Amino acid sequence: MERWQTIIEPFRIHSVEPIRMTTVEERQAALEAAGYNLFNLHADDVLIDLLTDSGTGAMSRDQWAGIQRGDESYAGSPSWFRFLAAVQHLFPFPHVIPTHQGRAAEKILFSVVGGPGKVIPNNTHFDTTRANVEFTGAEAVDLGIAEGRVPAVRHPFKGNMDLEALETLLQERAADVPVVFMTITNNSGGGQPVSLENLRGVRTICDRHGIPLFLDACRFAENAWFIHEREAGYAARPVLQIVREMAELADGMTMSAKKDGLANIGGWLALRDDTWAEQCRNMLILTEGFPTYGGLAGRDLEAIAQGLEEVVHEDYLRYRIRSTAYLGERLDRAGVPVVLPIGGHAVYLDARALLSHVPPLQYPGQALAVALYREGGIRGCEIGTVMFGRHPDGSETPATMDLVRLAIPRRTYTQSHVDYVIEVVRWVAERAGELRGMRIVEEPPQLRHFTARFEPL
Ligand SMILES: Cc1ncc(COP(=O)(O)O)c(C=O)c1O
Repeated sequence: MERWQTIIEPFRIHSVEPIRMTTVEERQAALEAAGYNLFNLHADDVLIDLLTDSGTGAMSRDQWAGIQRGDESYAGSPSWFRFLAAVQHLFPFPHVIPTHQGRAAEKILFSVVGGPGKVIPNNTHFDTTRANVEFTGAEAVDLGIAEGRVPAVRHPFKGNMDLEALETLLQERAADVPVVFMTITNNSGGGQPVSLENLRGVRTICDRHGIPLFLDACRFAENAWFIHEREAGYAARPVLQIVREMAELADGMTMSAKKDGLANIGGWLALRDDTWAEQCRNMLILTEGFPTYGGLAGRDLEAIAQGLEEVVHEDYLRYRIRSTAYLGERLDRAGVPVVLPIGGHAVYLDARALLSHVPPLQYPGQALAVALYREGGIRGCEIGTVMFGRHPDGSETPATMDLVRLAIPRRTYTQSHVDYVIEVVRWVAERAGELRGMRIVEEPPQLRHFTARFEPL
């Protein structure tokens, strides 16, 4: 038991950015201009921006110092070698391929290993991962455990893979499966962690069928912290060692450095296999850049290298996970339905439960996200039928859950910002019965949530 119960931010503020205050009328006008799609808003019109934790965090003094140190040599920059050492310190894969963000790593990998007739299992594909798999003509299959699909059910590792379902799939179709993926933490499933025990189970099944295992490791440090806190036998194990244990179980990874790289841009693909690595590097040169910078400037490589050093600090992770839980627990206590237990990077509101009068195909998550913006200037993100309801064959079905994600940018907002969010969400939740559904008036064929336009019903 710690002597003091208050967990403080393990940093102080060094530089500030103003937030522009707006009225409900101004936000209603902004919504109409944006086609009720919060991705279309001018960010100056947002008070508290919880759209994503991706690339929106505050960098440290030492990361900004790294930006100054960035060496922009085209090939073999010292910044590249610092980046490479920082990545391999955590994930000792022989091949590291820098990309401008996570989806570029996905695009390159699936162009090489995907294609028609192939199947990629994952605990839960993130939207860009699914889209990149499907773009090659392959099938993306989600095999998360049943508990992970029920927002109110508590489970310490709700991000786990259903091992039996994986075994069944591989018994039937191993020849069609080039790689098995595990997303840590499981973003679309509620920011929920995967246990090392489960990862080991997946590894054993993969070994039995001779299939490589890759991590979608965007939030690897948060996942490692949950293992440290919740998994039997890991309380005394340093986070760094837990990260290495996760890496040891895998054959490769895709990564968005915009999350646990603590950077504003960047990513990488890392792997063991020489042949795949060569094919991926050739794709990299075609689309991203030379293999020692990929899609990044030298200064970005420096910021990421420093971020990777900071993200495994236990004081940081304790504060990070606790401050997300603070928001979620207060909403839960106020009777607002949220995904439980609270995830690492975000609190997920259960819009389907809160707006039970709005059918999934009228997008309760979108209706709730719009209301939070209109009333309080808070921008969250629908993770539900808008994001996942449309299929490659053009059909539309309800997603497994209709959630609104309030993602917490790293090291960016203070507790009073979060207290304000709690007040607004409670106010909207108390009046949820008055909210109406939405309809889509315009949508692209893929990843429609980014650009679709809506109208209230
Ligand atoms: C689990 C997961 N995988 C992949 C990505 C894609 O990363 P990026 O946005 O850097 O392309 C994200 C981004 O949010 C993610 O959360």
